[in-house]
Amino acid sequence: MDLDQLNETALGMVAPGKGILAADESTGTIKKRFDSIGLESSAEKRRDWREMLFRTEPAMSQHISGVILYDETIRQNAADGTPLVKLITDAGSIPGIKVDTGAKPLAGAPGETITEGLDGLRDRLNEYYELGARFAKWRAVIDIGREGDDSIPSQYGINVNMHALARYAALCQEANIVPIVEPEVLMDGDHTIERCYEVTEYTLKRLYEELFAQGVVLEGTILKPNMIISGQKSADQATVEEVADMTVQCLSNCVPAAVPGIAFLSGGQSDEQATAHLNAMNAAYDLPWPLTFSYGRALQAAPLKAWGKTGDVKAGQAAFNHRARMNGLAALGQWSK
Ligand code: 13P
Repeated sequence: MDLDQLNETALGMVAPGKGILAADESTGTIKKRFDSIGLESSAEKRRDWREMLFRTEPAMSQHISGVILYDETIRQNAADGTPLVKLITDAGSIPGIKVDTGAKPLAGAPGETITEGLDGLRDRLNEYYELGARFAKWRAVIDIGREGDDSIPSQYGINVNMHALARYAALCQEANIVPIVEPEVLMDGDHTIERCYEVTEYTLKRLYEELFAQGVVLEGTILKPNMIISGQKSADQATVEEVADMTVQCLSNCVPAAVPGIAFLSGGQSDEQATAHLNAMNAAYDLPWPLTFSYGRALQAAPLKAWGKTGDVKAGQAAFNHRARMNGLAALGQWSK
């Protein structure tokens, strides 16, 4: 393990005014996104869409520090034969790869999932390094029970997911790949912001215990957490300031200062909400780690709509440039509506 290289990569991923583009949708998930614009999902269309994003300037060189790819994409070439990975590195951005194979039902815990993908991971990581990946992502999914059902998540569900995240992280570091550790507490339910805080705090405490127990070097990791936010179906929606204050409080209580940076997922927030929340944290607090974005939907929803069924590159790139710039400003606490 080359700790200097890992730390350098991690710091590059959270460079000032930059954040990560999560373009690692599985084939099933991107199909759903394409369905929303009435476009049939083929390998070629998926390539065209992602090629359009990775060629967007100045977004890529000024605001996108890294791109999370999916297995198909890291092997694809642009229409002119240039590897997509090369488009990313030419823009000065770092290629990364999603290595989990998805969340599956957890035995003995109805309604909960365990993220799979550890079998054969060592070999896959070595291959991804050869293909150009310098960081990876693994997403653990923690749901919150509906209508006050506090049996979900169970301690068992959280424990096994955090154990798997730490196993993944240790394997990544062995392969000189920075692990993004992503314990996502979902915002899909009808829970309060206080319940989100409670579940996220427990989850993060368990995560850092497991990372310590399994010898993961924090200086060579990036945390990708959810924000502390009201459930999407809750009647009581917290304000931007409440989300910012409670997220900062929770992270301050759980995340060691040795972690080089924190890059949030958007998780179903609207694109402007995701920008406003990130900005509010950076504008009001001086924290031990840079706080930035690692957004999927909040960076891609507008460009996807603009690119549309006909593949309008100019409109798609204009929309992506805009969202990347807004989030770049939010990462500095300099965004305004
Ligand atoms: P969203 O920002 O759409 O939540 O996606 C980020 C991600 O990578 C989820 O794993």
